[in-house]
Amino acid sequence: MQIKSAVFRISARDLAAAPEWDYPEFAFIGRSNVGKSSMINMLSNKSDLAKVSATPGKTQLLNFFIINDQWCLVDLPGYGYAKVAKSEKINFNESVGDYLEQRENLRRVFILIDSRIPPQQIDLDFVAWFGDCGVPFSLVFTKADKQSATKIRVATESFLARLPEHLKGVPQIIVSSSKERTGRIDLLKSIAQMI
Ligand code: GTP
Ligand code: MG
Repeated sequence: MQIKSAVFRISARDLAAAPEWDYPEFAFIGRSNVGKSSMINMLSNKSDLAKVSATPGKTQLLNFFIINDQWCLVDLPGYGYAKVAKSEKINFNESVGDYLEQRENLRRVFILIDSRIPPQQIDLDFVAWFGDCGVPFSLVFTKADKQSATKIRVATESFLARLPEHLKGVPQIIVSSSKERTGRIDLLKSIAQMI
């Protein structure tokens, strides 16, 4: 799939503020700092479409980007970040939860997992919860440029081994590096299948 245009359209604080339109949506979720915004920039061929930061908690709203005037990438706030004001944190988590559970436009969710570290309980809990929402999802192991292929394989296998039995084998697995543009074709193919 060729990316001909990528345009930021709107930031929404919650599901009620999300736009009403017919674009199929593809959302990116995962722990703060895992690389969601970087991945949106990599996919869209624009270095500064979504805001990236080395400080966790950068993305705080639901951000909608229209691609080829045909479909939509949604950059979501990360989970597991404690330093935002408590009221805000709860609010954003609720907004993300509402969006993921109730958004009719949502076609597929990419759940990003840091490939450098052993399975984290918060990620396992998130996948276990989302896996029962009924929306197709992929597990994307990020920052693959930072370690060997062997270590990445161990990371993906040990993560899958700890998923609830009924979810093992369900998600599509993608290994990615936004820095080296790895996984881009698989991600775009996965999107193209659902448009
Ligand atoms: P929040 O918005 O805070 O939830 O974070 P995020 O998941 O959107 O992460 P973001 O894309 O802002 O990236 C966080 C940090 O990781 C930045 O310093 C990025 O440059 C870095 N990063 C993201 N992807 C990669 C990657 O594939 N390889 C490497 N080496 N660094 C990456
Ligand atoms: Mg972000």
